[in-house]
Amino acid sequence: MYASESVNEQDSERTAFRKTEKKYKLYYDTNSKKKKRPRQVDLSEVIDFKSISEAFDDKGELPSGVSKLECRFDSPVFCLDDCPGFYFIPAALSIEEQCRWIKESLVSFPQPPNRTNHNAIYGPVHDLFYAAKDGWVLLEKEKLPGEDKSTGADINVSSHRWASSEELNSSVSGNTIKPVSASVLLRKLRWSTLGLQFDWSKRSYNVSLPHNKIPDALCQLAKNMAAPAMPVGEEFRPEAAIVNYFGSGDMLGGHLDDMEKDWSKPIVSMSLGCKAIFLLGGKSRNDQPLAMFLRSGDIVLMSGEARERFHGVPRIFTDTENADIGALEKQFSDEDDGCYLEYISNSRININIRQVF
Ligand code: OGA
Ligand code: MN
Repeated sequence: MYASESVNEQDSERTAFRKTEKKYKLYYDTNSKKKKRPRQVDLSEVIDFKSISEAFDDKGELPSGVSKLECRFDSPVFCLDDCPGFYFIPAALSIEEQCRWIKESLVSFPQPPNRTNHNAIYGPVHDLFYAAKDGWVLLEKEKLPGEDKSTGADINVSSHRWASSEELNSSVSGNTIKPVSASVLLRKLRWSTLGLQFDWSKRSYNVSLPHNKIPDALCQLAKNMAAPAMPVGEEFRPEAAIVNYFGSGDMLGGHLDDMEKDWSKPIVSMSLGCKAIFLLGGKSRNDQPLAMFLRSGDIVLMSGEARERFHGVPRIFTDTENADIGALEKQFSDEDDGCYLEYISNSRININIRQVF
């Protein structure tokens, strides 16, 4: 009796958003042979815009609460009646576009001066994806005589360099920390930032950090995709993008993106790779969130009131049955891109494009 009461008490302390995150998050059950198996989760309440879109094409029917936006746009754009400013564009990207943006996300987006989660520890890291492909390891650079190890590292200067495993086996002296393999660092890549650099430690944009413009092709894509959420005659200005990388078991906790000046401008969010669950909450974490699937090629726009809603990604699916990446896998196999295939078969990438000012 006492035990169950205390569980209830804990439950009531958690917000509706947190409870729903826990419901969908990946947990493992261990069977008697100590084998880990993903805990079964009931997905019947997860909104599936792919089936909504297919049913609409077939019978012209939409579930209650869902509308299709009338706009001059190739793909269908769905809205939720109770959530103004939220738009869902299923399969907005062709398979070729998906492959292109996956490759860019792995090869060029993490290149300095763009920053990644690895900067804080290693300084700028160049060519991570190719280093992983070639089996390289990251070593601390040898200090010059007289150089003081204790002086604070300049996070804009590389303190590390790549070495082949042969070099590592021959003679490398002066290393105080263990070399880290590039493939481990690739697996641990969680974010990179394009355009204006977001400083996670201060949770704000730092315009003084060196940066390159967001590539033109990505800008153009974001402008086209943002159109349904923009006032007529106004064009979206992509100024910053955050690329999130998810492996099995990774999640993005409930949050608001509130560091941009003008919330009437949409955030354009592209999904690539394994299918995920997206939670769209309310203005308070106590509001019950809606769960929906995000598949490779889907685009979500959040503008106006929808920008005040908590949201997050509690789960990605890497199992064959649920990941829904058959078409992507085929495309990468046809292109003979084994290394991309290997990465994406158990990962998800999200490119989140913003107008900052
Ligand atoms: C974000 C975000 C959602 C996603 O990066 O702010 O909300 O689909 N991402 O990964
Ligand atoms: Mn967000």
